[in-house]
Amino acid sequence: MIQITNLDEVDFDTIPIDSFWNTGTEKELKMHRIHSYPAKFPAFITTKALEYAHEKSLETKQIADIFCGCGTVAFEAKRCDIDFWGCDINPVATLIARAKSDKYQSGRLENYYNSIISSYDQIDIADAWYESANERLKYWYNQTNYENLLRLKMAIKEATPNSKYRLFFLCAFSNILKPTSKWLTKSIKPQVDPHKNPADVLQAFKEQYAFMALANKESNLSSKASTEIVTKNLLDPSLDKPKVDMIITSPPYVTSYEYADLHQLSSLWLDFAEDFRELREGSIGSLHHIYNFERELKRLNKTGTHVVFRLIDQHKNKARSVAKYFLDMQQVAKSCYSMLNSGGIALFIIGNTEYKGVKIHNAQHLAESLKDSGFNEITITKRKISNKILTPYRDEQGRFTTDKSGRKIYSEEYILIGRKL
Ligand SMILES: C[S@@+](CC[C@H](N)C(=O)[O-])C[C@H]1O[C@@H](n2cnc3c(N)ncnc32)[C@H](O)[C@@H]1O
Repeated sequence: MIQITNLDEVDFDTIPIDSFWNTGTEKELKMHRIHSYPAKFPAFITTKALEYAHEKSLETKQIADIFCGCGTVAFEAKRCDIDFWGCDINPVATLIARAKSDKYQSGRLENYYNSIISSYDQIDIADAWYESANERLKYWYNQTNYENLLRLKMAIKEATPNSKYRLFFLCAFSNILKPTSKWLTKSIKPQVDPHKNPADVLQAFKEQYAFMALANKESNLSSKASTEIVTKNLLDPSLDKPKVDMIITSPPYVTSYEYADLHQLSSLWLDFAEDFRELREGSIGSLHHIYNFERELKRLNKTGTHVVFRLIDQHKNKARSVAKYFLDMQQVAKSCYSMLNSGGIALFIIGNTEYKGVKIHNAQHLAESLKDSGFNEITITKRKISNKILTPYRDEQGRFTTDKSGRKIYSEEYILIGRKL
């Protein structure tokens, strides 16, 4: 761990890897795999973060993840019997996070499942429904799978009360939407695969349920700790944020994917939006609303200004979006400071990126933002990204590849910690 006193004296590139943060000691539970979610971080990060807090004599009664994604920290907090508050702007993320961090009686799950299957068999769908379907859904699905998904969604609503059990099954439904569509398998770009043979809806749902039921049995949650998860823009001034002892989070990456686009199938099917692009609004770094670039530039901190000015001549549009991202992250640092109790710790997992040869120093920028927000003890270390994410290249379709002609992605990331003393 390197303590940052003067930012100008820290060379972020040569910070050594700290193997403590590389791997966990226990196997990740199935519950973490009930739904795919890009940019999900490994579950052991939470355990390590709590260990770190303990070493620092911080008693963690309530933790928060301000970008809770699919609920990795939410679920781990529940397992550790710690109260949790999570926020994410993406309704698909919060659906998964809620489904993960609740406990279910196996017998009731099984009864609801059986009722869903029998309702499914009885529901008739007329041809006209496909003809009048949302054009975007017609683009992704053949008529048979569209109709079967519609039938399944209706069966879930018919067979379950409006409760956590319905949410569990809607989460199952959501995770079969990509395999049953023409979406190019494993691609992080919304792209049709004309040669794909989409999975059968009922079969996919049965397998998904079997896995989730097993995950529920395995996790066997008994904790009474409270979990609150809100679907909100963290930077919305009207958002009521709690006071917590610790924040464990990973912010969205700057030159990364548009989350709203990636989750469009779930957003459309679950009626979160008529047009999934609406959901881009408010995302960190999103240029969806009007912003005066020239005027706002003045608010950028030193690291932010340096990066944006390196981009501005040749890549004006990129410079605008990176600037917006940095400005938003400066706000995020302030929000974190105000959410923490005295002595509290905020821990961020954040990677640097590169755009056409220009390094985007996200970690350094956030460290400076934390300092400017009042955090008085800032430390940093680095970890290696394991599993498949280790492959540092992506091909044209956004899939991981070992081919060095692909686009380089980060294979290391920083653990940046700020303490409010
Ligand atoms: C790197 S991901 C977090 C992944 C998470 N750690 C997990 O394991 O699933 C960042 C998240 O930030 C969310 N996000 C982006 N802008 C946001 C905003 N303004 N307010 C709240 N959440 C936002 C995205 O929807 C995304 O889920």
